Amino acid sequence: MRALRDFSISVADGEMLVLVGPSGCGKSTVLRTLAGLEDVTGGVIRIGDRVVNDLSPRERNVAMVFQDYALYPHMTVRENLAFPLRMRKLAADERARRVAWAAELLEIGPLLDRLPRALSGGQRQRVAMGRALVREPSVSLLDEPLSNLDAVLRVSVRAEIEALQRRTGTTMLYVTHDQVEAMTLGDRVAVLHEGRLQQVAKPRELYERPANTFVAGFVGTPPMNLFEAKLAPPAWAREADAETATLGIRPEAIEFATHAGTDTIAAQVEHVELLGHETLLHVRAAGLALVARTAGMSAHGRGDALHLRAPASAIHHFDAAGVRRPPQAEIGPS
Ligand SMILES: Nc1ncnc2c1ncn2[C@@H]1O[C@H](COP(=O)(O)OP(=O)(O)OP(=O)(O)O)[C@@H](O)[C@H]1O
Ligand SMILES: [Mg+2]
Repeated sequence: MRALRDFSISVADGEMLVLVGPSGCGKSTVLRTLAGLEDVTGGVIRIGDRVVNDLSPRERNVAMVFQDYALYPHMTVRENLAFPLRMRKLAADERARRVAWAAELLEIGPLLDRLPRALSGGQRQRVAMGRALVREPSVSLLDEPLSNLDAVLRVSVRAEIEALQRRTGTTMLYVTHDQVEAMTLGDRVAVLHEGRLQQVAKPRELYERPANTFVAGFVGTPPMNLFEAKLAPPAWAREADAETATLGIRPEAIEFATHAGTDTIAAQVEHVELLGHETLLHVRAAGLALVARTAGMSAHGRGDALHLRAPASAIHHFDAAGVRRPPQAEIGPS
């Protein structure tokens, strides 16, 4: 079985690239391949201007924070931090200098003489990060480094990682299965699904112009409403057959009209999610189950009748294979 197919990606010097996708899509495999822990059956891996396919993990000067961020349990925090430097045979004073630097940066100075079992999850996380950073690697690979933190800590450590990356200019490849984390952290985001890259783009581009139905349904909370449609051919191609397509509209793009009109469709509310700052209305319209979002607390309840409008400019259009097509307005004889 191949974990990755046709995988090609370039990460710029000093860039934060986030790799995101569902469990089992191959994210860890990408990192392990770059780190030299997994061999590739084909293709070229370059770091800087070196082809590293035949280099050992240590020769690649790549630091990796593993998904389970295992620390050496019998070593103190200080020894954990210094271990990779010892392996690289750095002098004692240089080791001490770098450990002190990482400890200050990650605010773990007071913990240096503790064993990992006497640390909280978030503190362990920071030690694991520190152990990767003291090496001053050309590339840092982080595999779901926040997966074991609670929601509050996750946000603060995420901000720390971002600031650290900017300050040190380290090139980072950051893996997560959380699309919110990907969108907030990445200079660019690579979406992976079943071992194949779906799209690599800036967060905004991913949201506004998803390359296919997988990305459209993966990015955004709640995800884009997607539905099958038969599209009549435009007037200039009247002989053509109706086209099977998938159309999409984001919940926040659906508009509410006060009265029925030529451009509205009738909908009935089936379920309401009051989230405080916004309300998600699960509705049925023309036989389709859709989610619409409104700001604040909606007064609507189950069974209410609504008139919805979907502006043409907000409709995403995908072909029968799920690949993005330009908006209808842009399609025409050239
Ligand atoms: N050592 C292995 N031998 C065979 N198959 C493997 C091995 N390691 C992983 N796989 C398979 O390769 C695919 C990709 O695994 P990978 O660990 O890269 O996924 P992932 O995207 O990191 O998932 P998660 O979010 O759950 O960590 C999966 O189908 C997995 O079952
Ligand atoms: Mg993984």
